Amino acid sequence: MATCSDKYFFHHGLMLPKATHTDASLKFAADFQFNDDDIVIATYPKSGTTWMQEIVPLMVNGGDLTPVQTIPNWNRVPWLEEMVLADVIGTLKSPRMLVTHLPYHLMPSSFFSSRAKVIYVARNPKDVLVSSYHFHKMAIFLDDPGTFQEFNDIFLKGRVMFGKWTDHVKSWRHTDLGDRVLYATYDEMVQNLRGTLQEFSTFLGTNLSEETLQGIADHCCFKNMSANSMSNYSLVPKGYMDSSVSPFLRKGTAGDWKNHFTPEEDLQFSACINEEMEGESYSFPWSQ
Ligand code: A3P
Repeated sequence: MATCSDKYFFHHGLMLPKATHTDASLKFAADFQFNDDDIVIATYPKSGTTWMQEIVPLMVNGGDLTPVQTIPNWNRVPWLEEMVLADVIGTLKSPRMLVTHLPYHLMPSSFFSSRAKVIYVARNPKDVLVSSYHFHKMAIFLDDPGTFQEFNDIFLKGRVMFGKWTDHVKSWRHTDLGDRVLYATYDEMVQNLRGTLQEFSTFLGTNLSEETLQGIADHCCFKNMSANSMSNYSLVPKGYMDSSVSPFLRKGTAGDWKNHFTPEEDLQFSACINEEMEGESYSFPWSQ
């Protein structure tokens, strides 16, 4: 039976894993001084974060593969709120790239007064749930998810790390960021990665050639990333993440939820999400 165990603690009402977050790491995040040219990737967990940690450094470095082939993703694009950032922050060159799962209102105050750009990536919540379910099985530092139905229940109640999917997505949709934020979806990236990369390039002002963008798209396909030890979490000890249970880069598709949900679960899940997203225009056409 899935429970909320002592593997977690609460920070401003947000459930966080103790293995990756501490009071000190959260204080470091709160005090963090953003620069105007910083680039932030913001996501709810299991929405394509790791994919973006591959794409953005490639874009910023003109398609040069060296960073993604030599630096683990957590040092290449470190977490704002996790423990590792304090150690690597001094090594980051401008423009710095950071990643966060924090909801908008918990971002540090210097973020709001800076001109740092953000790409917020959302994913069909049904696929987020499925990906998260398998992740909870292999990530030893998280609770066992129980059965799929049990995990479905706690996911909808928001008794999972970083809380409810709906709260997270809504927090980042209602901002004062104007042209500092670009919204993307995992589902569109699966459907048309090359086109999405063009949008990212325009937003970030990287001005990359057709050839370079195509090279980045080729490198960032699921097959290549799965084989990249700097990106597939195979460097993480087995006692922390057990890839033999489920690889971190598990399936990389849009619509896998159809292989997991019963028709009743689909109805119940859709009703709950639609009610909480009432008044919001959102859709994930390629995975519905
Ligand atoms: P699945 O479990 O559905 O395969 P995050 O990085 O936010 O934790 O998200 C992990 C999800 O993104 C996993 O989904 C993973 O396979 C997927 N992913 C990572 N890199 C990808 C890529 N290059 N192409 C497609 N999906 C990718």
